[in-house]
Amino acid sequence: MNSRILFILIPALILTGCRSHPQLTLQQAGGQNLYQERCVHCHEENDLALKPPPPSLSNLFRHSTLPSGAPATDAQVIRTVLGGKNKMPSFAGRFTEEQMDALLAYLHTGIQ
Ligand code: HEC
Repeated sequence: MNSRILFILIPALILTGCRSHPQLTLQQAGGQNLYQERCVHCHEENDLALKPPPPSLSNLFRHSTLPSGAPATDAQVIRTVLGGKNKMPSFAGRFTEEQMDALLAYLHTGIQ
């Protein structure tokens, strides 16, 4: 590749990388990894072509209710993740308490 292009590309990539998540704490960043590994393929990509598509989880806690109408509380989200809901599978035994806390901390950022 032309080295001039790299001079432009690399700073641009660094800048966009920094801008997308400016202030994630270490815990939130850990939660982001879990979210990307375990939740994105359904909730953003709908790779199983579920109908209706799984709801977006961004700004989950900025409303008083979850998409289903259940209260938007940590306890309810944990219950959903551990117990599953309709076509959403149960993640019981898949996350340590620390990982669940990190996942919740990340969901509280609103996922921007
Ligand atoms: C296999 C696909 C799939 C995966 C993987 C998945 N979900 Fe879901 N999720 C769904 C579907 C479908 C719904 C809608 C359930 C309903 O209300 O019928 C849903 C709903 C939800 C809701 C809203 C519940 C409500 O009461 O409205 C939350 C919160 C949620 N998921 C969190 C997560 C998190 C966090 C992860 C990752 C750990 C995850 N989901 C992984 C399919 C998935």
